[in-house]
Amino acid sequence: MKKQVITLNDKESLVQQGLTLVLEKINQAIQQRGECTLVLSGGSTPKPLYEALAEQSLPWDKIYIFWGDERYVSPDDPDSNQGMTRKAMLDRIEIPASNIYGMPTDSNDPALDAQKYETALQEYFKVSWGEFPAFDVVLLGMGDDGHTASLFPHTEALHVSDRLITVGSKDGQPRLTFTASLINHARCVIFLVAGASKQTALAEVFAPDGDAMTYPSRLIQPEGELWWLLDRRAAENLDL
Ligand code: 6PG
Repeated sequence: MKKQVITLNDKESLVQQGLTLVLEKINQAIQQRGECTLVLSGGSTPKPLYEALAEQSLPWDKIYIFWGDERYVSPDDPDSNQGMTRKAMLDRIEIPASNIYGMPTDSNDPALDAQKYETALQEYFKVSWGEFPAFDVVLLGMGDDGHTASLFPHTEALHVSDRLITVGSKDGQPRLTFTASLINHARCVIFLVAGASKQTALAEVFAPDGDAMTYPSRLIQPEGELWWLLDRRAAENLDL
């Protein structure tokens, strides 16, 4: 794993750096493999990045969109990560609908929908049970409590290591999420973390030893590249 930590002055600079890095990785993937598999995060930090990506001239027909997690609501619900991303980016670009792999949340059974998404990934990557595909770029945020995707502290999802997708839970509400195992098989993982409210969790995640069950972002140790893009306020207590 190649870990890089970049601290930017403010959230706008963080988003700009994130855009530069994501564009570099998209172009690298397309040059090397003819396509790019891009996994999007929910939350507020990446939204301006998606808006900026929509302004770029990219070969969107060669870019395949996935989500690293989803609240268990319909895409038109204000809480939907897919809905947020469609408004910020997907509805503003020319991308084939078949390139967009939204997490299903319509069967009233989160475990069944998690299974459906896992099967869709297996079919896309042509992998069988027990094999973990390597996504080109996985974007992640980190919550004030140190969660990432929908891998929340002290939840069962943290212990699922033999699946691609599992059911996470926040305050008893189900969510679909990539497992840490699937994220860790990515070629490039990029965390975007901004704001003073992240300081405590970030210090715990970066500490030489600590409890990954309490701070699940510690679980993210990808085989490929790991980038932490932080703003100054989030990084204030870090001994970098
Ligand atoms: C979600 C995200 C979640 C998010 C963090 C940070 O569905 O909300 O996947 O993991 O990335 O909570 O969110 P902010 O970027 O809004 O701080």
